[in-house]
Amino acid sequence: MEKPLFVVLGLLLLAPARPEPVTGAVIGLLAVAGGGYFTWKSLSPRNECNEKGRLDIKALQADLENRVFGQHLAKGITLRGLSGFLRNKNPRKALAMSFHGSTGTGKNYISQIIAQHLYPDGMKSRYVHQFVATLHFPHIQHLDTYKDQLQQWIRRNVTDCKRSVFIFDEVDKMHPGLIDAIKPYLDYYEHIGGVDYRKAIFIFLSNTAGEVISKLALDFWKAGKVREDIKLSDVEHQLSLSAFNKNNSGFWHSSLIDRHLIDLYVPFLPLEQQHVKMCIKREIMDRGIIVDVELISKVANDMTYYPKDEKVFSVKGCKVVSTKLNLYLLPTIMDRPRNLNIFSGFFNFVSWVFWGICSSISNFFHFVFWAIFSLFLNIFYIISWVFWGICSSISNFFNFVFWAISSLFLNIFYIISWVFWGICSSISNFFNLVF
Ligand SMILES: Nc1ncnc2c1ncn2[C@@H]1O[C@H](COP(=O)(O)OP(=O)(O)OP(=O)(O)O)[C@@H](O)[C@H]1O
Ligand SMILES: [Mg+2]
Repeated sequence: MEKPLFVVLGLLLLAPARPEPVTGAVIGLLAVAGGGYFTWKSLSPRNECNEKGRLDIKALQADLENRVFGQHLAKGITLRGLSGFLRNKNPRKALAMSFHGSTGTGKNYISQIIAQHLYPDGMKSRYVHQFVATLHFPHIQHLDTYKDQLQQWIRRNVTDCKRSVFIFDEVDKMHPGLIDAIKPYLDYYEHIGGVDYRKAIFIFLSNTAGEVISKLALDFWKAGKVREDIKLSDVEHQLSLSAFNKNNSGFWHSSLIDRHLIDLYVPFLPLEQQHVKMCIKREIMDRGIIVDVELISKVANDMTYYPKDEKVFSVKGCKVVSTKLNLYLLPTIMDRPRNLNIFSGFFNFVSWVFWGICSSISNFFHFVFWAIFSLFLNIFYIISWVFWGICSSISNFFNFVFWAISSLFLNIFYIISWVFWGICSSISNFFNLVF
């Protein structure tokens, strides 16, 4: 709500020190347009709850195809699961998807893309909520408080918007009691305490079963089979066998699985070097840099791959691509001093630092002075205009009254003189005629 105020204040500051009427009008128009824009933005459909579950499936599909690499299973399952759920006007339960896979394979990435297609503001939308186990629920001794807070939070948000999206990250590190606290909202109840949770979307992210999935992908690779031939049924079996029988898995303790409250198990395959290269290319393109095949190879070769001998899969998936790319882009700037004479480089550096400090200070004072000066001048300018408006209105009023009264009197005298002239000239003409 403060934004329009800032815009108006900003425009006031930006206004020239000696404004003219035209400039004043332009600034006024800009202020009105700015205020209007922010009002429109806060009331626009962008910020509405997407209760009807509007989703451009084709656009989501295209986005997943273009941005997510090496995850044919995850893309297919989420796309079909989500579109089926949203098409159903009266779902019997909330959608619960569980994303599994090793690090950097795109679990958060796909959930962000889904969020963005449901709500244009994506993860920043007030209807998309992310919980990170180690961040939001770090202390086991506060378990009861966390449970209450979590339940209240979900209730409040679903009351506010039925199509809320809840993303639980690092769910394998979440206390089983907390997962049980969410359980009622994933179940087949029409409502709980008057709130209907069946249109909400829950996404659970974890590294659980990452090893099993990786092993399966490696077996496929060793057998010379095409990765895209891995079917959900191949992974599902493995998931049910071992993923949830681990003592350290929150799911193991939970009755989510027993009661079949998770609708979709989504496996994320480990990424090969070819996928890492695609991630690097996408990152380069996103930064608006010219794609350089050599640079892509350098960054890709700098990643670690497993197993030790075969080096098939990236240990961190595409997770550190961005950081690695920075390391390769930075030397092109930093390399230059090495070619220079050490003294000239040093003096150059000192002079740059000095220039930086001086110009910052000078700019700061200049800005402060200019801002205060122009703010005051504009305030006086506005006051003077208002004053001028009032004075000229009063003066015009008296001018008008005086003119009206004087012209009324003048006209009366004018009429009397005409009448008098008429009478006199008639009498004179009469005597003239008689004579
Ligand atoms: N399959 C993929 N296709 C394209 N980019 C990817 C893919 N996987 C990861 N990335 C890139 O790597 C970044 C990190 O991935 P993300 O956070 O989704 O990993 P994660 O699976 O959630 O890992 P973790 O288990 O460590 O949380 C993403 O922001 C994205 O840029
Ligand atoms: Mg993650």
